[in-house]
Amino acid sequence: MLDGKTIVLGVTGGIAAYKAAEVVRSFVKAGANVQVVMTANARQFVSPLTLQTLSGQPVCTDLFDLGLESQIGHIQVARAAHLIMVIPATANIIAKMAAGIADDYLTTVLLAATAPIVVCPAMNVKMYENPVVQRNLETLRQRGCIIVEPEAGELACKEEGTGRLAELTTILETAHRALTPGSLAGRRVLVSAGPTWEAFDPVRYISNPSTGKMGYALATVAARRSAEVHLVSGPTYLHPPLGVHLHRIVTALQMEECITGLARDMDVIIMAAAVGDYRPAEASPHKVKKAEGDLWVQLLRNPDILAGLGQRRRDGQVLVGFAAETENLVENAMQKLTQKRLDFIVANNLVNPGSGFGCDTNEVKIIRKDGSMDELPRMPKERVAGEILNRIESLLAST
Ligand code: CTP
Repeated sequence: MLDGKTIVLGVTGGIAAYKAAEVVRSFVKAGANVQVVMTANARQFVSPLTLQTLSGQPVCTDLFDLGLESQIGHIQVARAAHLIMVIPATANIIAKMAAGIADDYLTTVLLAATAPIVVCPAMNVKMYENPVVQRNLETLRQRGCIIVEPEAGELACKEEGTGRLAELTTILETAHRALTPGSLAGRRVLVSAGPTWEAFDPVRYISNPSTGKMGYALATVAARRSAEVHLVSGPTYLHPPLGVHLHRIVTALQMEECITGLARDMDVIIMAAAVGDYRPAEASPHKVKKAEGDLWVQLLRNPDILAGLGQRRRDGQVLVGFAAETENLVENAMQKLTQKRLDFIVANNLVNPGSGFGCDTNEVKIIRKDGSMDELPRMPKERVAGEILNRIESLLAST
């Protein structure tokens, strides 16, 4: 979403101004065109040269700079922006924005802007909690600005409390959201992700190498498109995407119970989880000690969650599955598509390089009920997620 977009980054005079450098780098890396605008106070904390070097563009600081103003006028900066972000936002800029003051480059651009505005406050906890600041933030919210709440922790002034600039990942994700059309607004989407762990004692379990990346990418992109997202996740080290409802489970039986409880209210269900098909018949409450000879573990079949959803699906509900295969990809996937009564299935060959478990990319075939198929090239999992959700949106539109 950031590729080719123009983001105006307003930097104001707080200690967190140095973090703006990392934000600029990340936006540029994602393909955005970044125009930095600094207040006079911001220049006390971070050098314009740093942000100019990172953004590859002259930094706008002075409304009355004859040279720069004739090249990139402040109204032109406001007009060109797809998104404006104020990072960090001091109590002072928040007050000026709320009052509509336009006495320097940044405030003038903000007042002339029609693009979405994201404000990332960072300040001392007492300043942040001050009712005047809270009232000004509320004014901005009511005017449609997106406020990225500061986080709690130790502040630069050594006090503890809320006031630290939000994490970089939160800021970046907020930019994605602000730039993504809400094409799934009002829709409820359930995504399952990750492996399940089937324990046979407290320290050992049967599982698979799934990391959850594909399911988390689907949840991230669906949330960016403004869906209400429920992510039912097996054990993984991944951070939950911003704003999704996370339901953590460990076993296949727990996943089934959780999904069954949510399924009826969902418009879309995507089963991206690598659900364990078997569980040990008995889970010992204590560590099983080794003894002479081999150990035999009896395994019981787990329910097929997706097949159950296929039987119970209500009219208009879209149901999508994955097929993880190592041979006969299309035949096996077609069989699952029919047996589980899906709208389409996303098939991937686990032995292809850059595809399947743990990779950041995936190479998939999307196979529909009528046998038609889209073969997608290898691409990042977030883009695969976008392709899957585009097809889901078409199905939703046709019902
Ligand atoms: N699935 C499920 N419950 C299971 C097993 C799988 O809901 N107990 C779902 C997966 O989330 C996936 C689809 O069914 O969307 C296909 O999973 P896959 O592991 O490829 O196939 P299986 O149906 O388990 O069949 P097999 O292991 O024989 O290939």
